[in-house]
Amino acid sequence: MSAPSMTLLHNPASPFVRKVRVLLYETGQQDRVALQAVLVTPVNPAAELNQGNPVGKIPALRLADGNVLHDSRVILDYFDHQHVGNPLIPREGSARWRRLTLASMADGIMDAAVLMRYETALRPPDKHWDQWLEEQRNKIRRTLAELERDAIAELTSHFDVAAISVACALGYLDFRHPDMQWRLDNPRLAAWYAEVSQRPSMLETQPPV
Ligand code: BEZ
Repeated sequence: MSAPSMTLLHNPASPFVRKVRVLLYETGQQDRVALQAVLVTPVNPAAELNQGNPVGKIPALRLADGNVLHDSRVILDYFDHQHVGNPLIPREGSARWRRLTLASMADGIMDAAVLMRYETALRPPDKHWDQWLEEQRNKIRRTLAELERDAIAELTSHFDVAAISVACALGYLDFRHPDMQWRLDNPRLAAWYAEVSQRPSMLETQPPV
């Protein structure tokens, strides 16, 4: 097999990166992409990441011609157009908008959870903004409650962009915010996640210990 012509600038802890890696595994494309780790935080930017990606998004995909695609939603769409199996992002119709909306809910959980991680891991404890942290937790709780109430059958029906995104969001909560104990109020989501987290794509992309 020839060397990969594309490079995914990534951080193995990022749930946004994990979505892309899971889709690559699920569609058999993992060998098409070289992984390049970039250690970056909001207060420690990386010059290599900012080339063609001035906001410094992670993940970013450097193509063979040097162009850079970002963010994770664009990269998912790109790779979903590059395999011959059933699309993991429906191409049209109401299914497209519903599945992308479920994926957006999962992205919202990730956004809140990553911001909480930055607030607690990077800022000095005496500068933590407790009310802001609680509102991020509330966003996550509300979104999980809606998924628990309305979306279990849809998540169970295929492991597509919606299910991949929700699975990566839950994996990140376990990784960085186990204190939230999200399973207590969401038993159906917990049962669904217990199953999908055993897929080879999820096992291969677990965050570092
Ligand atoms: C983390 O360490 O939790 C993290 C790192 C990069 C992006 C998002 C999260």
